[in-house]
Amino acid sequence: MDYQYILFTKEEGLARLQINRPQKLNALNMDVYREIEAVVAICEAAPDVKVLLITGDNKAFAAGADIDLMADGDIVMAQELTDLSRRVQERLADIPKPTIAVLAGYCLGGGLELALCCDLRIGAENAVFGLPEINLGIIPGGGGTQRLARLIGVARATEMIFLGEMVKAEEALHLGIVNRVVPLERLEEEARELARKLMAKPPIALRSAKTAIRNGLSMGLKEGIRAEQDAFALLFGTKDQKEGMAAFIEKRKPKFIGR
Ligand code: CAA
Repeated sequence: MDYQYILFTKEEGLARLQINRPQKLNALNMDVYREIEAVVAICEAAPDVKVLLITGDNKAFAAGADIDLMADGDIVMAQELTDLSRRVQERLADIPKPTIAVLAGYCLGGGLELALCCDLRIGAENAVFGLPEINLGIIPGGGGTQRLARLIGVARATEMIFLGEMVKAEEALHLGIVNRVVPLERLEEEARELARKLMAKPPIALRSAKTAIRNGLSMGLKEGIRAEQDAFALLFGTKDQKEGMAAFIEKRKPKFIGR
């Protein structure tokens, strides 16, 4: 498939999706969302994809949803846009493989909301984060009020959403929006290094951990721990569990096969 707004590569287990609309700071219009959805679907179905990186360029991951598209929009347009963005975000959040958002420059509005759907986030030192929707007379419409509050706490998310101010990379690290911050010139390599580490892990256990963490966020503590217990027990039906424990006892590195 040819993409207008996406660069997509897939090699040695690593899929890389780059949003590519540089003249608009990678602003997300309907077609960008549709193309992201198509790529996520490919990655979900492809057994040779172990980890997905999603990134932008050095100036912007994405400066939000496309304001030109929304400026004269009505309620129906707003519903259609957020139906689509929600579907894409849920698909990305639910993909049963590790995802890493690799973030340089502006990561705002719908861009931040998309990054929040990834499992891990690495920021470059020049990255800035924010939910500036309030300054446009709206609120975040792509999960920002929910995912950010769950990630960094209600008080901090409320401040970011009420004020709509941008937060620099170091502050984002302190808030817990990103897992780590690295120099811009190291960003891609650090992301790949992290991906390589994840690719050496047992994929079924990774998938299981992802499901337990994500599902647990919408459960009570007791229910979440029960679900974790079941997932834990099921892993004893995998060859990777046998391999992992045998390797420990034999004092060698495990070789996981995803079975
Ligand atoms: N939508 C459409 N176009 C955008 C855009 C956006 N979100 N962000 C930037 N652009 C465009 C600019 O209009 C400009 O285009 P032209 O050259 O054709 O004028 C180009 O990208 C470069 O932007 P600037 O000239 O503004 O660059 P700057 O460096 O001076 O400022 C910025 C950068 C501070 C990020 C500024 O562009 C900005 O504030 N952008 C909007 C950020 C924003 O409000 N995002 C939230 C959108 S709402 C949302 O996302 C809702 C949702 O969740 C569903």
